[in-house]
Amino acid sequence: MPDAIHVRLDALASPPPTAAARDSAAADELRAAWRARPNGRTFYLETFGCQMNVHDSEKVAGVLFARGYRQVDAPDDADLVLYNTCSIREKAAQKVFSRLGQVRGVARDGKVIGVLGCVAQQEGEQIFERAPWVRLVCGSASYRRLPELVAQLEAGDTRVTGLELDTDETFETDFTRRDNPFRAYLTIIEGCDKACAYCVVPMTRGPERSRTSESILREVRGLVELGYTEVQLLGQNVNSYRDPSPARLDFAELLEAVAEVPGVRRVRFTTSHPRDFTPAIVRAIERQPALCDHVHLPVQSGSSRVLAAMRRDYSREEYLERVAWVHRARRPISLTTDIIVGFPGETERDFEDTLSLLDLVQYDGAFSFKFSPRPNTAALRMPDDVPEEEKGRRLAILQERQREIQQARNERLVGQRLEVLVEGRSRPGQWAGRTSSNRMVNFTSPEPPALGEYREVVIHRAGPNSLVGEAVI
Ligand code: SAH
Ligand code: SF4
Ligand code: F3S
Repeated sequence: MPDAIHVRLDALASPPPTAAARDSAAADELRAAWRARPNGRTFYLETFGCQMNVHDSEKVAGVLFARGYRQVDAPDDADLVLYNTCSIREKAAQKVFSRLGQVRGVARDGKVIGVLGCVAQQEGEQIFERAPWVRLVCGSASYRRLPELVAQLEAGDTRVTGLELDTDETFETDFTRRDNPFRAYLTIIEGCDKACAYCVVPMTRGPERSRTSESILREVRGLVELGYTEVQLLGQNVNSYRDPSPARLDFAELLEAVAEVPGVRRVRFTTSHPRDFTPAIVRAIERQPALCDHVHLPVQSGSSRVLAAMRRDYSREEYLERVAWVHRARRPISLTTDIIVGFPGETERDFEDTLSLLDLVQYDGAFSFKFSPRPNTAALRMPDDVPEEEKGRRLAILQERQREIQQARNERLVGQRLEVLVEGRSRPGQWAGRTSSNRMVNFTSPEPPALGEYREVVIHRAGPNSLVGEAVI
């Protein structure tokens, strides 16, 4: 495969923000490729689910742009209507079928409707039965075949599928159409080899496949050339990364290598699995200022009994040991998490254990969910015995407790100076950006800051989910 060329959307739609990026050979080449081969066809792409899906959509859009397609904002205006879907909880999966219902009429006009992502992989050809107007079903492990599948559709094939999971390849494209002008996502590992009892991901994304460190570092250097200063490494479990090349970097070494690429100012990574979390990762963060002081470390439950039933491969004590490594680091590192309430067999006592874990860890953020039984998972065979209403009650209690913790933690930042990457305006005269710890800061400034620049902001007020401050000249 030729060296991949990656591009930011604004590098093509309008001049990129920095002169270096504007003049980069990569941006030039892409502009040329883009304009030279329009084929008159259009696509609409809507994305559901996690950051992996968001980034996959950027690559899918790149594949289509490279074939001469143009992106439009409404299914009505598109020749090809694509949904990149999520199957993690039942509600997410249902949303897709309601969308497919909405575009049924559009399909009658000869438009191609396609389902990509995790619902595609999960439901496979059954999607054609539920929604016969769908013509393309393709899971993420088969995206390398997308150009071929799209060519078959263009040639008039009625139905095409890409549902193979036995791939050891990762999805790398010649073109990636990036939506976020400030933070560039890049995949380092695809799939998942864990077997958490509640989770569809090992089925929907296939086995773990790591990219070579050379290919990752080449992409990072290309991103710097395009003007990016912040990169986010993605994977279902980034710290299960195993370099398949002779360099054999482990995840902590890869983090350091990425942080040392000249021009990189911030490196984020998500998600870390507690089982594969090591002290070396904390040491890397201590050593490299470019590694953001934030670790997302999903715990799921504070009860060792529930963790065993979930097959998470760690106990409450082992998890807290990892938290202690993070808390002892030489600079403060933010911790965020994911929690499931109402897993089969979760008692009031187990739930209390989760609440006490929140108090002990003092997370800076938590995504929490009611357990949702999913097809082909081990938990489906366990009785879903916590009533819906009780799941709702536990979720509300947990979210309130976490809100109080975040409020208190954020208040401690009042009066401090924090570096913010300016990402946009929150309202007239006010800008918004993120700190290294991933906190959102809304701020005023004596003179308007440029988007994409780093500014020192003094924090004046704190809420549970954001901070308010003023930029320092
Ligand atoms: N790989 C990551 C998580 C990916 S899924 C990890 O292992 O931590 C994102 C989150 O969705 C999970 O952390 C979990 O909290 C939630 N989740 C997954 N399956 C779920 C289910 N069946 N019901 C409710 N929440 C679920
Ligand atoms: Fe799902 Fe567990 Fe894999 Fe995370 S580690 S994606 S929760 S199976
Ligand atoms: Fe959803 Fe698939 Fe991501 S199920 S959370 S889109 S890996």
